[in-house]
This record gives sequence, C-alpha cells and structure tokens, in this order.
Amino acid sequence: MTVQEREMTGVDWPGWLARWDAQQTGYLPHREARFDAMLDVLGELLPAEFVAVDLASGPGSLSHRLLRRFPEARCVAVDLDPVLVEIGRQSSTALGDRLRFVEADVSRPDLVELLGVARVDAVLSSTALHWLPSHALAAVYARMAGLIRPGGVLLNADNIPFSREPGVFQQLAEARRARHAVAAFGADMASGWRDFWEAAAAEPALASAAAERERRFATVGRDHPESLLEFHLAALRDAGFSTVGVIWQEFDDRIVAAIR
Ligand SMILES: C[S@@+](CC[C@H](N)C(=O)[O-])C[C@H]1O[C@@H](n2cnc3c(N)ncnc32)[C@H](O)[C@@H]1O
Repeated sequence: MTVQEREMTGVDWPGWLARWDAQQTGYLPHREARFDAMLDVLGELLPAEFVAVDLASGPGSLSHRLLRRFPEARCVAVDLDPVLVEIGRQSSTALGDRLRFVEADVSRPDLVELLGVARVDAVLSSTALHWLPSHALAAVYARMAGLIRPGGVLLNADNIPFSREPGVFQQLAEARRARHAVAAFGADMASGWRDFWEAAAAEPALASAAAERERRFATVGRDHPESLLEFHLAALRDAGFSTVGVIWQEFDDRIVAAIR
C-alpha cells in the first residue's frame, strides 16, 4: 500500500493503537504503573538525549510513552507481527524519525545489525519475552549486553512465574490474573484478545498484513516452559550486566532491571 493509498483509506490509526492498549490493559490493569516505573528508571539513569530499543514492541505502546516523556529521546521498536507493526508505523507518523519500526524476530542472531544503531542507552520490553524459549532469551540478553553502552540499562517487564509446579504463589498470581480478565471481558476471558484480532482481520487496510501474520505465526512454537526468575537473573549476569534484580513487582508480573 502506498503512502497516498494509506492516506485515502481514512483509517483511524491512533484508534487502533488505543484499542490495542485497552485490550492489553484489560488483562493487566497495572500496565500504566508498570510503564511509569520503567520510565522512572530511565529518567534517573540517562541523560535527556538517549536512544532506546523497544523489543517485541507490538504497535509501540511503550515507545510512545517513552517519547512523550523524554522529548529528546529516540527509539527503535522491533516486532515480528506485521499487523502490529503496521498499526505502530501508521499511528506514529507525527513522531518522524524519533520512532522507527523494524519488522523482525527479536531472536534473530543478526538483530543488532537490523536495528541500525551501533550503541544504545536502554533496551526495554513489555509483556513479550516469555514468548522466547530459555536458550533464545539468554541469547537475546547477550546480544543486548553487547549493544547497550556501559552504564546503560535493560528493563524487561513481563509475567515471570514463581515456579513451574502449581505452588501457592503461582496459583495466587494466576487466580488474580483471571479475576482481572473476567472483570474486563466477562467469563469468556479470551474475548478481549480475540475481538481485537477479529476486528483487525476485518479491517481492509490491514488485510495483507493480517494474511502475512497468519502465515508467519503458523510456524512459531509457543509451547515451551517459561523461564523462571532465577534464569533471567543468571542469564543477565552471564551476559555481562553488572547489577541485576527485580525493581517492581505485582504478583508474578515483574520488571527485571540490569545495568550494563
Ligand atoms: C502481548 S504483546 C506485547 C506488545 C507490547 N510490548 C505491549 O506491551 O503492548 C507481545 C508481542 O511480542 C511479539 N513477539 C512475540 N515473539 C516475538 C519474536 N520472536 N520477535 C519479535 N516479536 C515477538 C508479538 O508480536 C507481540 O507484539
């Protein structure tokens, strides 16, 4: 689709981004507080002008908040989903080159070259890296350690389970998550996610991206066990980060921070 064709479609792209945010917030009512905590860390540690990467960014919810709060910052957002990248690109044209989207798998060995930045001050990610099997997660952390300048920071906000077994803390976290989802979407908890994707598939301006999404995700396996907190912390230390730890937590939803 050319730029002219896009302009003629009259699609409400900021509306699509808002719809994504509403759906995600239904599952994570504390999502804004978690974003704020991540940005607070950047505000404390980084100069006014900095470069960040948003890993598995979706349509760029975190990137948008970062660029609003830090007007001299720039951001590269990377995601594998062509629909979300299209919504991200189309809803951020006013940001010019302050926000650039890269459509790629974050576990690609050549990710750093694809990002087109030699050094960055921060790498962030929200609600996404649990999609990676442990070996791929550790490899991503190692690549990001090579990209972040000394003194820079990695922040990964995600559900990181207490245990693989149905221990009491994990049960409490899952019960709470289910209560949030039912409050937002009713007994059919999955409907928030499903409705978003059904609406996207019915949007003519997203038709080709939606077809590509179907094809691309058909081969992505998601049935691996999620990495436990101890694994995240050990992988970050092994990658060369000097100080690692959890800086924010809501049951099993945590922000893991690592200083390079
Ligand atoms: C729940 S969404 C979160 C998106 C965004 N970070 C947010 O907080 O709104 C998870 C995202 O991870 C992306 N993702 C999953 N596996 C990926 C991979 N291997 N490479 C790039 N993106 C991936 C999905 O496409 C999706 O956009």
